[in-house]
Amino acid sequence: GDYSGALRPQVHFSPPQGFMNDPNGLFKDADGVYHVYYQLNPTEYIAGNQHWGHATTTDGYTFENQPIALFPPNNETFVFSGSAVVDVNNTSGYFPGQDNGVVAIYTLSNSTAQNQNIAFSKDGGYSFEPFEGNPVIDIGSIQFRDPQVFWHPQTESWVMVVVYAAEFSVGIYTSPNLKNWTHASNFSNHGLLGTQYECPNLVEMPVEDSDETMWLMFLSINPGAPLGGSVSQYFPGYFNGTHFEAVDPVARISDFAKDNYAGQFFSGIPGTERRLSIDWASNWQYTNDVPTESEGFRSFMTVFRQNHLKKLPGVGWDLVSSPFNISSQFSQVLASNSSLGNSSILLDYSTLPSGALYFEANVTGLTPTTLSGAINFIISSSISGQNIQGATIPGGATWVSRRNAGWGAENPYFTDKFSSNGVYSGSENGTWTLSGVLDRSILELFVNGGEQSATVTFFPDYPLDTLRIGASDIPEGAAVSVAVWGLKDAW
Ligand code: FRU
Repeated sequence: GDYSGALRPQVHFSPPQGFMNDPNGLFKDADGVYHVYYQLNPTEYIAGNQHWGHATTTDGYTFENQPIALFPPNNETFVFSGSAVVDVNNTSGYFPGQDNGVVAIYTLSNSTAQNQNIAFSKDGGYSFEPFEGNPVIDIGSIQFRDPQVFWHPQTESWVMVVVYAAEFSVGIYTSPNLKNWTHASNFSNHGLLGTQYECPNLVEMPVEDSDETMWLMFLSINPGAPLGGSVSQYFPGYFNGTHFEAVDPVARISDFAKDNYAGQFFSGIPGTERRLSIDWASNWQYTNDVPTESEGFRSFMTVFRQNHLKKLPGVGWDLVSSPFNISSQFSQVLASNSSLGNSSILLDYSTLPSGALYFEANVTGLTPTTLSGAINFIISSSISGQNIQGATIPGGATWVSRRNAGWGAENPYFTDKFSSNGVYSGSENGTWTLSGVLDRSILELFVNGGEQSATVTFFPDYPLDTLRIGASDIPEGAAVSVAVWGLKDAW
């Protein structure tokens, strides 16, 4: 792939060539290599002709493209989304004398059927052979897809969650060997329904400041998101090996902008480690339209995110999601000021080879009665003035706008301003933070270390090269600090 295009993110994954959507089969192997598979159309720049592309990384940012892992079995049937597990104990019987056998579990889809299939890899996930007994689950439906599988040690069983997409239901199945599956229960009609349920994930999550874990059902809907198109939601709850019960009927949306969908969590990472995920950074409403075709690709993923659950006062359970080990990608300090007050920093980063940076602004010394003021940022092109900008109010809302960022007027669904709601707990200890990963044509914004987050793509005509970040109307007694780092050129 040619990763030199001005819109090509440098610390985010994008496919070498063609169209990409959902992350698939995420797992970490025993050598510490993260495997990322993804929905890939290698022959066109629009969705369709689904294969599983494959890339590997040891740090979450520097990727190596690998040969395509799964191919369509014929020219009418495509390889849709799914997951992968390491069959350490050879439960499938396919890996005698091996503890690194990989099993991919995926949907085959054509106009008359969607069913669940598996494929075996004896070489650690690089090449796969389909199981001769496929499909492993077939219920005669054309809307039955996106299996996510994990090992449940308490019941010594594999568990699959898979959607009956048009019935707003997640099926839960169990299996001793990944080949024979028994239906256990359904989780139905929860949260935002949209038009279809897609891409379920059921994961055990660490809880902040506690040794306990909680389960999380992560579920995507498309179309029908509140902001239009596709969106992901989640339900904290309890899982006993066969049934999932949500703590409450609340629908919680994981991202307050429009470019975050079909997230998947890695398997093969011990339950106590903060869980890693990546999401597809696009939206079905306009993904086939965005102007990166001339650079040989369409779509990118979010950065690796680490996730945990936290109970926020007055809000309840919240999924906290932040960039995984981003400091490993810092190339240099571009700016740093620990007593900024009510002023701003202006930074020209036009000579930074990656065009990618990370910024963090903190307000400290706030009290519950002095929650006010704002942190503001604007990142722009010195040539065209095109920009992406936003602000956050301590204890309050955050907004981000791509209104003046260039491409967009061509597609009415590419709406341009997003905001969060409510009051969150960062103010508890008198601090409020805003951080962001800016990478050429994507901005991921995090409030209070990820209590709230927003993923925004944008497509400027000229590279952004100037950052202004600062604070205004911050109350007396509070202090403002800002730091900006350049990110390495990972490609
Ligand atoms: C979600 C989705 C999945 C499906 C895949 C096809 O974005 O529609 O339900 O498996 O994309 O590419």
